[in-house]
Amino acid sequence: MASRRTLADCRVTLGVTGSIAAYKAADIVRRLTGLGVQVRVVMTRSGARLMSPHALATLSGSPVALRMWRPAELLQAGIDHLDLGREPDLLLVAPATANILGKTAGGIADDLLSTAIMAAACPVIFAPAMNVRMWENPVTQRNVAALRELGHHFVGPEAGDLACGETGAGRMAQPEAIADRVARMLLARLDGLRVLVTAGPTEEEIDPVRVLTNRSSGVMGARLAEAARDRGHRVTLIAGPLRCPHPIGVERFDVASAEEMARAVAEAEPRADVLVMAAAVADYRPARREAAKIPSGSAALQIPLVPNTDILASVAPARAARGQVTVGFALEIGDGGEERARAKLRAKGVDMIVLNDPTRSDSAFGGETTQPSFLYRDGRIERAEVMTKYAAAMEIVERAEALRDHAAAGGRTHG
Ligand code: CTP
Repeated sequence: MASRRTLADCRVTLGVTGSIAAYKAADIVRRLTGLGVQVRVVMTRSGARLMSPHALATLSGSPVALRMWRPAELLQAGIDHLDLGREPDLLLVAPATANILGKTAGGIADDLLSTAIMAAACPVIFAPAMNVRMWENPVTQRNVAALRELGHHFVGPEAGDLACGETGAGRMAQPEAIADRVARMLLARLDGLRVLVTAGPTEEEIDPVRVLTNRSSGVMGARLAEAARDRGHRVTLIAGPLRCPHPIGVERFDVASAEEMARAVAEAEPRADVLVMAAAVADYRPARREAAKIPSGSAALQIPLVPNTDILASVAPARAARGQVTVGFALEIGDGGEERARAKLRAKGVDMIVLNDPTRSDSAFGGETTQPSFLYRDGRIERAEVMTKYAAAMEIVERAEALRDHAAAGGRTHG
């Protein structure tokens, strides 16, 4: 298996400055280290008064850098501020006060963090956090514009209730949104594949309040997006209404109906080296959507249904011709499942089908385990043990990588 650079190979320096939002730095560190990223924290003097350096050192697993000037007898080889700027793949300042924005825009480097920013050879992201009047102050806005002009990045701030009791723009973006942005920027700099995943059920509208849907939770698709991300790939997730948390570090498009999903896939798949259709797409939709709510009554109600386009079948053959990999799922209940899955693989023209039986207690909808079988076009079938959906997702991603490597080496994806 090819060794790929992943988020675990990435280093982020997190600068924490003196906004009350500094307490959220702990959450940011947790989320980034949870993605495998190595985090090194540097705090300004005010930042270290608002948030404990000990807590951040413990959470990041690395010493926190606080001072530019150390007692001479403690000096080691190497110069801290230059290392902090050059070494990481990304420098994140969260929270970023009006002061650090002004210092950076003005070219002032008078402490460890401002010096590290000035010496940085990597992208810098600021997550501003301040009082609304400070944020809206023309000087701050001028500094933000200047920093953007120089190629620096911003996440937030949001509008809302501020710690000072006022309401308006200035609240730091949520740690989840910050970690999401950092992960996506890191992944964009790795040389992974572009992986497109669909997840969840679709909803077919009957009338303004009723929908036709299915019991898919979206867990398998969410785990696939996470596994592909964790393998260092750039992931786009096209999601129906998920009944599970959305993965971070992943570009996401929310859709409802099968038709919307088909349009979103058609738009995104030409760029995707790998497409994994884990969504449980409704096979039928109501022939027409009633403009008004259908009144209830005692008479039997008939709703005519028409078939939806088969998304996989509509894109897989052209993808194979372009050397792009396509993976489908088959839910088959009971005997003869493997034969039906094989027929589906051929009919839809995909490279691999992942077969599941959702009526098994260890492969149920919404659960965290599954027992997949992998069917290939050459007739090969590999049956796995019961495993977590994340482990199954990792298997699928690694098998898709192998199919892609084979196609890129000149082999056809179709045997
Ligand atoms: N699929 C699709 N477009 C559809 C329906 C399904 O792309 N309109 C994809 C699904 O995402 C899945 C695969 O096709 O990857 C298999 O789905 P399907 O043909 O519906 O089969 P099953 O889900 O196994 O169930 P059934 O045959 O009973 O519909």
